[in-house]
Amino acid sequence: MQRRNARSDEENYKTMFASSGLRKSHLVFPVIVSNSPSMIKSMPGMAVTPVRRISQRVQSIADSGISSVIIFGIPKSRDPIGSSAFDRNGIVQDAVREIKSSFGSAMSVATDVCICQYNLTGHCGIISYGGRINNDATLKVLAKIAASHAEAGADVVAPSAMMDGQVYAIKRELHNRRLDASLLSFSAKHASSLYTPFRSAAFAKMTTRLDKSSYQVSYSNSRVALREIETDINEGADMVMIKPALMYLDLVRMVKNRFNYPVAVQNVSGEYAMIKAAAMRGWIDEEEWKVRSIASIRRAGADKIISYFVLDVAKYL
Ligand code: PBG
Ligand code: ZN
Repeated sequence: MQRRNARSDEENYKTMFASSGLRKSHLVFPVIVSNSPSMIKSMPGMAVTPVRRISQRVQSIADSGISSVIIFGIPKSRDPIGSSAFDRNGIVQDAVREIKSSFGSAMSVATDVCICQYNLTGHCGIISYGGRINNDATLKVLAKIAASHAEAGADVVAPSAMMDGQVYAIKRELHNRRLDASLLSFSAKHASSLYTPFRSAAFAKMTTRLDKSSYQVSYSNSRVALREIETDINEGADMVMIKPALMYLDLVRMVKNRFNYPVAVQNVSGEYAMIKAAAMRGWIDEEEWKVRSIASIRRAGADKIISYFVLDVAKYL
């Protein structure tokens, strides 16, 4: 690819961000924590972080001026009910305690609340006999997981299981146990093969073609996505999330216009992989597409942007 003037590129990126109204406080870095460290093959440049290195990792995030992370945990083993998800010495709980003891209020810590990294099926709900997802049984487990994260010191719990009533169930549990974490709901999490690179790390020994379409939202129906969001707002979510990012930015704008509510967007592993893969072949300009992705998510109205690119682009802010 033709070499351009690095200095003027940098100026362009800064201008692009400035005109989108983006600030560092909008950015959240996703940290994937696992005690069997590895690189993720389909996410070049992204490593998983073991708990013993978590403070070092978070320090490098803080050094780039980012003060918010979300933790995705990959436990060392799975069991039928996903019990390590609510273990007080589970991987996420350990990571949160470690970060909070080193950084205190200087680093906001959110946690992914789900069971699919911890159970045998890889589904986000408990499967009853007959193969159906048991929504209500799952709610009890999600509430326990969220409370265990809040107890470890998480500032924000972020349920991503897409079970009906998950926001209400978790809010009630936090209230009963006098835990004051706020709640970010993965409200419009679309069923998507764009999660495949993440799943190749989190679900290594399992299928990467899990079909979650019975509980995740369909690409083709924005009315259902908006209804999910409205329900979560009514159940008391402090912020709602839309994911993946780039193919759903119309929804972000619709939610801002209709509900005027805080909205987060997650730019997912497949969106990272697409840019990386094409850039590695010299087919696109990596830096430009990273910057434009983030700027366009902000332009659509996102208040928080979770992206694996956050650290790379912080220098333009
Ligand atoms: C599971 C989970 C997924 C991601 C984070 N947590 C995907 C899934 O529904 O299987 C995807 C993250 C990414 O692709 O970056 N609740
Ligand atoms: Zn899940």
